[in-house]
Amino acid sequence: MSFDLQAIPVDPAASADLAAQQLEYRVLDPADTTALDAWIQADVRGFHHSRPRPPELEYDRRVMAERRVQGVYDAAAADPITPVATVSSWPTGLSVPGGRSVDAWAVSSVTVAPTHRRRGIARALMHGELANAQHAGAALAVLTVTEATIYGRYGYAPAAQAATVHVDRRRAKWIGPDAPGRLQFVEAASLREIAPALARRAVARTPGEVDRWPGLLDRVLGLVDPESDSARAIRLVRYDDEHGQPQGFVAYRVQRIPDEPGELQFDFLAAATDDAERALWRFLVEQDFVSGVRGTLRSVDEPLHWLLEDPRAITMSNVVDHLWVRVLDPVAALTARDYGTPGTLRIHVDDPLGHAAGRFDLTVGDSGRAEVERVEADAATSTRGVRGIRLGVRELGAIYLGGVRASVLARAGRITELSPRSLALTDRMFQAQRTPQLSIWF
Ligand SMILES: CC(C)(COP(=O)(O)OP(=O)(O)OC[C@H]1O[C@@H](n2cnc3c(N)ncnc32)[C@H](O)[C@@H]1OP(=O)(O)O)[C@@H](O)C(=O)NCCC(=O)NCCS
Repeated sequence: MSFDLQAIPVDPAASADLAAQQLEYRVLDPADTTALDAWIQADVRGFHHSRPRPPELEYDRRVMAERRVQGVYDAAAADPITPVATVSSWPTGLSVPGGRSVDAWAVSSVTVAPTHRRRGIARALMHGELANAQHAGAALAVLTVTEATIYGRYGYAPAAQAATVHVDRRRAKWIGPDAPGRLQFVEAASLREIAPALARRAVARTPGEVDRWPGLLDRVLGLVDPESDSARAIRLVRYDDEHGQPQGFVAYRVQRIPDEPGELQFDFLAAATDDAERALWRFLVEQDFVSGVRGTLRSVDEPLHWLLEDPRAITMSNVVDHLWVRVLDPVAALTARDYGTPGTLRIHVDDPLGHAAGRFDLTVGDSGRAEVERVEADAATSTRGVRGIRLGVRELGAIYLGGVRASVLARAGRITELSPRSLALTDRMFQAQRTPQLSIWF
């Protein structure tokens, strides 16, 4: 997807809803620094963060210049320059089972000032973003959430979980294979040159990951505000394979209290190969003078349990929904991914907002690739012998990446089997070889 993000017209329905409350819905020009800075202040205030220091403000400006940035303005407010609501969005690739990526629309920075809450402003923004996503030709929209009760009403559903993994250092005896390459400490500036390519390869092998934007890697490597305490604590380690080719890296820090072993913490590990993933994990769990290792936004299906002699050295906590998916175009979305088994399935999708509603025939060949066809409502197609399920757009989003089985949703009364053995077929078709994971916030 490549086009001028600012040129997408403002959704007239959302604009009218807000105008009825004397509010103006506006797309910002990223070159208008005064307006952008006020928008950034509203965004950070909305998430209860401190005001940004100058380097952070400069970073936010750079990131937002790559996005479509929209604000809602109250001309009658004491400070009419600062929006009372914010949202930003951009086209992104989302990795799907089979190693490809689907055109998605990422939505972020959703805030409404506490002075203007619960009068439908967020609803107008969210409908506006679905319109933007369709205008951009995205097959689906994606977001991460502060609270799990906000976005279901717009058709989003949790599609990939994440967990915090803690490893007790004293019990962490490695029994996995030795990696053939080597590990080395590197400086941020040198890693910055190769990090985008490594991150891209790591993203491609994991369904549920979204493309990394350039600014994100600056933040991970501590380059946004290098003199800050948090940036100075970051250590960077790269794994090179036996041919000397970089295949992964981790950014970590050790939290210390005087005279005690510290706790090693990391929230970014990019591995383009299994060797790199194992080598980096081994490096982390074999540190001396630390009591444990804590990694956030990790997969709920880490191979780590099989790499340590004592799997109980590992504690998984804070297992949460993390990536939320909203299917907009079932034909494009379903065609993009690979499937676990061949077969033909008729999928009847209900969507109260209309976008994804309809009947679709999913035909998967031996290669795992699919052909997907919309079945017109008045088509006199026979359903004899056709396996079929009926589900809502939220349930379609939930099973899309293979993170939850259709049969589990059926047990919850959320998917209906229209013919015998259709659920079993759906389970086998939608299963993904690798459990979906999203390891960043956006
Ligand atoms: C979440 C937030 C954006 C909602 O804004 P808002 O303008 O008050 O929401 P709306 O008035 O448009 O509400 C639309 C619907 O969502 C519901 N809703 C809004 N906020 C909700 C919340 N935090 N939890 C559960 N439901 C919520 C409303 O009750 C309403 O429900 P209805 O469809 O049954 O009528 C706002 O509270 C906020 O800025 N929160 C802090 C920042 C944040 O968490 N943002 C979300 C980022 S992922």
